[in-house]
Amino acid sequence: MTSLLIANARVVNEDRIQEQDVLIKDGRIDQVGADLGSHSADRVLDAEGRYLLPGMIDDQVHFREPGLTHKGEIATESAAAVAGGITSYFEMPNVNPLTINRAALEDKYQRAAAKSMANFAFYLGASNDNLEDIKTLDPTSACGIKVFMGASTGNMLVDNPEILEGIFANAPTIVVTHCEDTPMIQANEARYRQQYGEDVPMACHPLIRSAEACYQSSSLAVSLANRFGTRLHILHLTTEKELSLLQAGPLAQKQITAEACVHHLFFSEEDYERKGALIKCNPAIKKASDREALLNAVRDDLIDVVATDHAPHTWEEKQNSYFKAPAGLPLVQHALVSLLEHYHAGRLSLEQIVRKTSHNVADLFQVAERGYIREGYWADLTLVDLSTPTVVDQQTLYSKCGWSPFAGYLFKSSIHTTIVNGAVAFADGRVNPEIRGKRLTFER
Ligand code: DOR
Repeated sequence: MTSLLIANARVVNEDRIQEQDVLIKDGRIDQVGADLGSHSADRVLDAEGRYLLPGMIDDQVHFREPGLTHKGEIATESAAAVAGGITSYFEMPNVNPLTINRAALEDKYQRAAAKSMANFAFYLGASNDNLEDIKTLDPTSACGIKVFMGASTGNMLVDNPEILEGIFANAPTIVVTHCEDTPMIQANEARYRQQYGEDVPMACHPLIRSAEACYQSSSLAVSLANRFGTRLHILHLTTEKELSLLQAGPLAQKQITAEACVHHLFFSEEDYERKGALIKCNPAIKKASDREALLNAVRDDLIDVVATDHAPHTWEEKQNSYFKAPAGLPLVQHALVSLLEHYHAGRLSLEQIVRKTSHNVADLFQVAERGYIREGYWADLTLVDLSTPTVVDQQTLYSKCGWSPFAGYLFKSSIHTTIVNGAVAFADGRVNPEIRGKRLTFER
């Protein structure tokens, strides 16, 4: 049996902050309490008053394996995740081959078991012709079913109305959606192409992938979920208008939940001039007023989860002109420190950040024994230092693509230590490449 005592921490958990010690034995939280005593463990980590959070569970990442490994790999992207305080992730199906059947899902679980530094689960992707695979999915074998109701990276658009109805009517577990109306976007693209040719300014991205296109598609998802009683989670909301489709209130009472992503809470359309294609993503980063509305919605419990949509592309790919530059940003390594900026600005409390990045994700997806600092649960923990800044420096990046949209920023906080299943996966600014995460299990 190995044991680790985290002493003198400020534990942020279940809407409270308490000065506590946490004793970990054999990967699990054995005891949480005041002054547990350093004699109780093989090893002591003195937190020196830093804040201890349940590790972030990121419900939306693209780690590019198999098939797109020139952009990223499970090993490199999971290393970036633990360096950023993320201890578990749910990964997306737009790889090659697409994750649209049981065999492709199991292939990814095997790859991750061998290479992932964080805990992992995978979505089954929907397509216009895999309804049988969806219907017969064992709900404990995937975190959810991902439906691209708008086309994005990868060829996964589900636009056949009967198939969409079939998915919403028959999904054996939670359905998560990318909502952007593709015909509206295509009409906008044609208009802008006529005006600018291939060299459309990046600042037009939120006008092409417009607020109206988001609303149209999110409304359809909500109406289908209401019609069929589907458990729906709408990913990466970007507009104030879509918030009118949601209801505030306790998570347990919601049939429809929603996610916002860290970059949509951080950047606004004013940043296209400086960052160009580096902040091109789908759905697009929109107005500063949308960002404000999203932040308020996170605070007011209209939005339930904050995640990353980590989507690496190479630097070279991002140097292309508007239509050729792919959409997506590498984010996992600085997601939590970017969110902590909202704490420093007085916009979100630490308790709210923990709820949106960990408790709610575990509850909403029914993740077993994670997402809280509770005795008996797996010890997935992140120690954050609110007064030591993070310089976003290319030398320190773990993502394979080697660049960050946050380059040039100085965040006020830093990740001190990340613990995955009781093992130190990141400390002293370095990941321990020997650490392996576990397959997540779901209580469904
Ligand atoms: O910006 C995005 N990039 N949005 C998506 O929906 C997909 C992602 C990717 O895989 O590159």
